[in-house]
Amino acid sequence: MSAALFPSDFLWGGAAAAHQVEGAAFEGGKGLSVQDVLPRGSRSPRSAAAGADNPKAVAVDFYHRYAEDIALFAEMGYSVFRFSIAWSRIFPNGDDAEPSEEGLVFYDRVLDELERHRIEPMITMSHYDLPLSLAERFNGWASRELIDLFERYARVLYARFGSRVKYWLTFNEINALAHVPFMAGGITTPQNELSEAVLYQAAHHQLVASAMATKLGREMMPEARIGCMILAQPVYPLTPSPEDQLAVLQSEQANLLFGDVQVRGNYPGYFLRALREKGIELAMTAQDRIALRNTVDFVSFSYYTSVCESADPSARVEGLGNLMGGVPNPLLPASEWGWQIDPMGLRLVLNQFWDRWQKPLFIVENGLGARDELVEVDGVRTVLDDYRISYHRDHLLQVAEALKDGVPVLGYTSWGCLDMVSSSTAQMSKRYGQIYVDRHDDGSGTLERYRKKSFTWYREVIRTAGASLRR
Ligand code: BG6
Repeated sequence: MSAALFPSDFLWGGAAAAHQVEGAAFEGGKGLSVQDVLPRGSRSPRSAAAGADNPKAVAVDFYHRYAEDIALFAEMGYSVFRFSIAWSRIFPNGDDAEPSEEGLVFYDRVLDELERHRIEPMITMSHYDLPLSLAERFNGWASRELIDLFERYARVLYARFGSRVKYWLTFNEINALAHVPFMAGGITTPQNELSEAVLYQAAHHQLVASAMATKLGREMMPEARIGCMILAQPVYPLTPSPEDQLAVLQSEQANLLFGDVQVRGNYPGYFLRALREKGIELAMTAQDRIALRNTVDFVSFSYYTSVCESADPSARVEGLGNLMGGVPNPLLPASEWGWQIDPMGLRLVLNQFWDRWQKPLFIVENGLGARDELVEVDGVRTVLDDYRISYHRDHLLQVAEALKDGVPVLGYTSWGCLDMVSSSTAQMSKRYGQIYVDRHDDGSGTLERYRKKSFTWYREVIRTAGASLRR
């Protein structure tokens, strides 16, 4: 057997988010979340009411099929499963007097199943699904009130699950707030009327809430490791001009600000300068400053794509790739949804983050959204997704290079383990899983699960600690 490329304690698995997999949107005492009024994806207009026309109402029915799904994850050899808890299952309105026992019991059962299969859970506390009531009553994270409410929610999760869960993430892709303020922050002010001052204030509230939750987690669960989660998107200059390089620096700073605060515990000079020049004064109390000093144990991130940047603002395409926008790279291929494919960018990001923050890293999302066709091979229904295998192989080989560069990488959870509703487009046809789910954009399908070719391939990668990547 050829040599392993990954350490024996490397955590291998997959990732999912509550609103994209669970379904049961109106069951189990769950309140509405912002996702229940986003039937067409992250940038689509909000619908007036939550209804069954939203693919997330059923999603892929993980709420009822979690045991079957987790058994499949175990069959693939997962040692970790990253999933999120829906705040609105625990506090239907976000600030109810008591948490919902029914909601807590659902996640108890998920954890029981993971334990049975010896799969380490990793919990995201907030993955783009703020309780709708908090959005409507408070304008979401634009209000300071949400800091205490989040801390209260975190306290309930730690008290209930803390003895069984070591890895915790506070906010999914915390740096996406400015790009999708309703989905990521429950901010109901229409995006074209939203001032930068309000956006930065909302981001500040999330950063303080994340730090408070980190502090509390450390007090209540001394063994836990609490991380931040950042949308990583390396930026290259479109040309070698110094002006383009400066545009790269500034674009990266806008993105990495969130990691800088969560790792270093204060706001960097470049951000304070930007605030000064824009005439924005953040409402920041002395306690906020003290709270921010509760920095994270590790940095987790999603990685799908890279972009270029140019000093010419007209070259930018808003929303290009994964939410952040940028200038298309003339040298890279792209997925059908225009997300450019750049495996080496992952090695670059791993090195950049380690150099910058000196914290262990965890890749908690990486994958290819593609259309899959269910076919029959020797009487077994499957998907011959060689394109997905290539994507993961090329990216994992770059992770192996980063390990050789001396970057401490704790694990890799592919996005997603099973097909699920897309976050940006709410399509089922944008599939990421190693497990095919028979569910379609028009709501048809049996919800049956089928192992794709990438299922067997990933199992072999995990079993051989990456040695099979070289075959
Ligand atoms: C990340 C999100 O931005 O990208 C996930 O954390 C999302 O929720 C993933 O599903 C892939 O994006 P999309 O839009 O293709 O589902």
